[in-house]
Amino acid sequence: MLWFTAIALFVARVVAQPTDNHAFQAPGPGDVRSPCPGLNALANHGFLPRNGKGVTLQNFITGLKEGINVGIDFALPVGQMALQSAPLPLALSVDLDRLAEHNYLLEHDASLSRQDFYLGDDLHFNQSIFDQVLAYYKGTDTTNIQAASDARWARVKDSLTTNPKVVYGVRQLVLSYGETALYMAVMGDPLTGKAPISFVKSLIEKERLPYEQGWTKPAVEVNLVTLGALIAQLQLANPDAVPEGLTLGAGTLKDVYNLIDPLTGQALNLTCAVLGLC
Ligand code: HEM
Repeated sequence: MLWFTAIALFVARVVAQPTDNHAFQAPGPGDVRSPCPGLNALANHGFLPRNGKGVTLQNFITGLKEGINVGIDFALPVGQMALQSAPLPLALSVDLDRLAEHNYLLEHDASLSRQDFYLGDDLHFNQSIFDQVLAYYKGTDTTNIQAASDARWARVKDSLTTNPKVVYGVRQLVLSYGETALYMAVMGDPLTGKAPISFVKSLIEKERLPYEQGWTKPAVEVNLVTLGALIAQLQLANPDAVPEGLTLGAGTLKDVYNLIDPLTGQALNLTCAVLGLC
């Protein structure tokens, strides 16, 4: 029986290996990456351009579908938001590092694995921040809704107390819940959100799809319906959902008053622009 299990595991690993085109390759000199571990992993496996440059809407749609079975209903609108971060308006492609543009449209404070913009580096992985998230799983080997929800909310509270320039409004709340749902769904079961912690660590810490540990892309498509259902469970599991809602007023206003200078592509603060101070 033991030998049968060993052979089954071996076969599972061989079957799970990516084709040569999609073997992991860390970014080289001149390659660029984003604040998103999902996109970075897809670029590191060649499901998105490996140099991270000139990524088109079509690249997002096919890369997400082929690499991790994420549907077009997610990839299309989120990919379109990503294109808004390109320096020129109406650009048809974007370099991944542009997605670190603060609060425009996808980058936000209280990330799971990056520092807040005001406090430091909002682009690269930060182990001590991600350790705050991992601590909520308390050494268990699989994710669960309660711990994931608690970890997300703890990161928000941390930013609200340590970052005097924090922006946390409705948009950030939706993105933040969505990102927690994404790592659970893509690394595990999109319906229950259960994923091996070792897979999640590979995705977020190494930006690597964990084929060598036996991971395969989810059989069930990850899409707005499955993500919405997971987000609802994560929200229900947050005992502080009402206090969190009360923090949103000022955060949402601050968020709305940010915009991009169409000529330079730099993020501007609307109040500051109107007063001619920037
Ligand atoms: C077109 C598709 C996508 C775009 C444009 C995108 C973009 C981004 C951006 C800009 C962030 C940074 C937000 C922040 O400041 O924390 C982010 C975070 C994140 N993304 Fe993506 N993303 C996409 C798809 C995905 C997919 C398919 C996954 C699946 C695993 C994923 C997983 C995550 C996670 C887990 C985070 C949170 C990282 C953190 O908080 O430190 N994303 N994404």
